[in-house]
Amino acid sequence: ADLKSFIEDMPKAELHLHIEGTLEPELLFALAQRNNVKLAYDSVDALRAAYDFSDLQSFLDLYYAGAAVLQTEQDFYEMTAAYIARSRADNVRHSEIFFDPQTHTERGIGIDVVFAGIARALREARDTHGFSSGMIMSFLRHLSEDDAFATLEAALPLRETYSDLWIGIGLDSAERGNPPEKFARVFARCRELGFHLVAHAGEEGPPQYVVDALDVLHVERIDHGVRSEEDPALMQRLAQQRTPLTVCPLSNLKLCVVDDMRKHNLARLLHAGLAVTVNSDDPAYFGGYMNANFLAVAEALRLSRTELVMLARNGFEASFLPAAEKQRLL
Ligand code: HPA
Ligand code: ZN
Repeated sequence: ADLKSFIEDMPKAELHLHIEGTLEPELLFALAQRNNVKLAYDSVDALRAAYDFSDLQSFLDLYYAGAAVLQTEQDFYEMTAAYIARSRADNVRHSEIFFDPQTHTERGIGIDVVFAGIARALREARDTHGFSSGMIMSFLRHLSEDDAFATLEAALPLRETYSDLWIGIGLDSAERGNPPEKFARVFARCRELGFHLVAHAGEEGPPQYVVDALDVLHVERIDHGVRSEEDPALMQRLAQQRTPLTVCPLSNLKLCVVDDMRKHNLARLLHAGLAVTVNSDDPAYFGGYMNANFLAVAEALRLSRTELVMLARNGFEASFLPAAEKQRLL
């Protein structure tokens, strides 16, 4: 088989995906019209043309503006259903999905509306197609820890209702200047509550943020983590503990974390023994879903088929699925 078919045929698990980052311009415009939300762009093409980012913040500004079109349970359902359709087409069998309630509750949308719409699509996909998934509620790190606590308190009454899906807690948004320590107390509480914990670290922020995500927040996986390479002791530790990194190649290119895919350190991280996985992050904004991310690194870094299989298998191994489920799905 050619490289593209080989990648298409591999069963994949996705561990770093922001559901709000799957809102394609076409759906974004349709929802804006349906909900009478005024957009700063007058066409799908004009919006897509604005997806030219210089760093994380330049992306976040558009991402949060785009999310304003999401108003009803049906809107969250349609966005999630569209993501699942794309993922199934890419032979993704399991996905652990981030969602940012604060982006929506800030606009007066009920947190129950957010949970309900996403969960309805995930349950339907599970019951109809055997598509496996989990939900990871993420705190916005540019907001205060008190705000994160308030979000947790608002969400906890829903825990029983979504016990089949809600598996974890994450931390995303603007990394620089918002270190893990800012969320130490709320993560300690989430840990007591028995949630799986993850955090974005070492995307734009320094390797010390990766160390602190591990030592202060006690996360089980690092989202991105590519800057870990700057700290040899950290690299040794990540390899030894097999702490997964959820790497997002097209995201790193679009947000100028790397200026050329041929310079991406994914292969070096893998060769150093780290549990590297490949993920799409915000595929509607960064130019591709899972297969596009695999193909981009396979070509730019001349990865072997053995390496591609390792990366895909790491996705299942690094997932929060029970061991028997990992085996069954891959
Ligand atoms: N980094 C931080 N916050 C985010 C990202 C990301 O890549 N995507 C969506 N929110
Ligand atoms: Zn991310």
